[in-house]
Amino acid sequence: MVEFALPKNSRVVTGKTWPRPEGATNVRAFRIYRWDPDTGENPRIDTYFVDLDTCGPMMLDALIKIKNEIDPTLTFRRSCREGICGSCAMNIDGINTLACIWGIDEVKGDVRIYPLPHMPVIKDLVPDLTHFYAQHASIKPWLETSTVTPEHEWRQSPEDRKKLDGLYECVMCACCSTSCPSYWWNGDRYLGPAALLHAYRWIIDSRDEATGERLDNLDDPFKLYRCHTIMNCAQTCPKHLNPAKAIAEIKMLMVERQM
Ligand code: SF4
Ligand code: SF4
Ligand code: FES
Repeated sequence: MVEFALPKNSRVVTGKTWPRPEGATNVRAFRIYRWDPDTGENPRIDTYFVDLDTCGPMMLDALIKIKNEIDPTLTFRRSCREGICGSCAMNIDGINTLACIWGIDEVKGDVRIYPLPHMPVIKDLVPDLTHFYAQHASIKPWLETSTVTPEHEWRQSPEDRKKLDGLYECVMCACCSTSCPSYWWNGDRYLGPAALLHAYRWIIDSRDEATGERLDNLDDPFKLYRCHTIMNCAQTCPKHLNPAKAIAEIKMLMVERQM
């Protein structure tokens, strides 16, 4: 079972409300989850007011503005600000998404921002993804071959290359896995939608020569079969991918190889 890293008997309390920007007429309130393990205090929700007339259009712009101009202790991850690195994943107004490609206008009224759900929190909006990455590594996300390496590249027909569309675009943001009820309760053993989408990406790669071993590795009541097609993963993916479909394809391959 997934365990939280919060203090025992903790509850989220109302935190500090920061002053409104003077003279601003287009102001939005951001209610943001704060937790610093070093203080031993309960998590809290701090409220910040952002002048949208002097802020970029995305949620990440507001977070950076808060950090730069109001409260430098606010902690979150980000890098590319283009939806490519996957590091700014968080829960915004109840939806797991990437803050850099989620417009402030998408939310009406106060904006509530929490870390990705059901993950241990390192600090504020930063989840601990150690286990998530270890699960990704466990599916061997690289080309496995046994034949002699060609002098130039491993060749692939356009048709076979096309099979990777909808899979290779994954940015490993963890929005899907942390929205999956099966992953919430069995994340220690169920690989979850992100790792399984990657597993399928390598299983159907025409150049890969370890398909049998890859399927053997997944043929386990927990690793694969905890997906109950609830579809939260496909609904939340900020890259519009469909991990549930990839999981269903793996299950089909498992059946086919037994016939
Ligand atoms: S379809 Fe499967 S992986 Fe996706 S949210 Fe549902 S149980 Fe989780
Ligand atoms: S499938 Fe989508 S939500 Fe899941 S890790 Fe990849 S990009 Fe993120
Ligand atoms: S900062 Fe890279 S995906 Fe948002």
